Amino acid sequence: MKNILVTGGAGFIGSNFVRYLLRKYPQYNCIVYDKLTYAGNMDNLRDLGDDPRYFFVRGDISDREEVDKVMVDHSIDSIVNFAAESHVDRSIIDPDAFVQTDVVGTCVLLDAARKHSIERLHQVSTDEVYGSIEKGMFKEGDSLEPNSPYAASKAGAELLVRAYHETYGLNTVVTRGSNTFGPYQYPEKIASLFITNAIDDHPLPLYGDGTQVRDWLYVEDHCSGIDVVLHEGQAGQVYNLGGGNERTNIIVTKLILELMHKPESLIVSVQDRPGHDRRYALDCTLLHSLGWHPVHSFEDAFEKTVSWYRENEWWWRDIKSGAFKEYYQQQYGDRLRASAGVR
Ligand code: NAD
Ligand code: DAU
Repeated sequence: MKNILVTGGAGFIGSNFVRYLLRKYPQYNCIVYDKLTYAGNMDNLRDLGDDPRYFFVRGDISDREEVDKVMVDHSIDSIVNFAAESHVDRSIIDPDAFVQTDVVGTCVLLDAARKHSIERLHQVSTDEVYGSIEKGMFKEGDSLEPNSPYAASKAGAELLVRAYHETYGLNTVVTRGSNTFGPYQYPEKIASLFITNAIDDHPLPLYGDGTQVRDWLYVEDHCSGIDVVLHEGQAGQVYNLGGGNERTNIIVTKLILELMHKPESLIVSVQDRPGHDRRYALDCTLLHSLGWHPVHSFEDAFEKTVSWYRENEWWWRDIKSGAFKEYYQQQYGDRLRASAGVR
């Protein structure tokens, strides 16, 4: 491996991964290929500007010609595919872009991987492909029962990856990551939204009763897990990648407020997300057998994350003052007004 195409590398996890890879492997070149949707942001990669091993190409993973060109221009030998529409709530409002990028785009990348005989394609997937689990933990062989258009499109992508391995012998690996938090997360997800809202003393719109459970994973641990599977994973294999930090949303919300010395009165219970999965939980025995374990404690990593958003207002204030406002209004306007009426 030498020239790694990181699709979606201008997003949250992708940009953290590029930084991680360049730091750990001095011999690698990282070619970020990103459409720069609302979630893609060159500021996420600003500190890499003059590193001679980092290249940026703006492009869409579902555009065959552009993908072909970047593969040739940079002699790509491996692909790590982060590029996706990633937010569940947006997939409920408008699923089309999710099918186009997450499913069709992945198919285009798989074809390019075949055509250019690359060494390995790593598909970055999610625990949401399993659906919800009341008790116990999902294992890699369990059935896929996605419940949101986002989860369904990620499951569709994964099935294509599987099919290309089985049919064409393509060297693929998949990681199913759990809920990730840390620096550079677009402020639409619960962690980044609630931290930045709390800084401004704005309400934290908690869906339903807040008892849904997610397994929290610090972004550095997500990156190291992908690194291990990219280098050590068995071809054709899927790996669960979870932090082992199951918490209800209400607990996470209260932790954020406690770390920020803000009152719990900022929490506003709003209308629930349709089809809201109650609980995700992953059995990560397989990945642990490759020697990977998360090294960041949940509370310490959350504290670090809160500090990062406090110290980097330049990064998120810009985002929140732009097109984000319209989205926020559409997603939360009625919900917050209805809650105010109830109280
Ligand atoms: P993100 O929304 O922050 O970033 C997505 C990136 O993909 C953006 O830079 C965007 O511009 C780019 N992109 C979107 N459509 C594209 C297209 N057609 N062509 C090229 N680039 C395109 O997402 P994230 O939270 O960093 O997630 C990255 C990946 O990890 C996704 O595949 C997601 O499904 C998966 N994942 C995320 C989490 C999480 O908690 N955030 C957990 C598990 C798995
Ligand atoms: O599990 C992995 C997945 O985690 C990734 O595949 C997705 O890309 C990522 O967006 C994330 O999905 P979730 O839907 O779990 O994340 P989100 O931050 O949107 O929501 C986390 C929980 O918080 C969920 O139970 C819904 C709740 N929530 C979310 C928001 C945005 C709220 O209560 N209020 C909110 O405003």
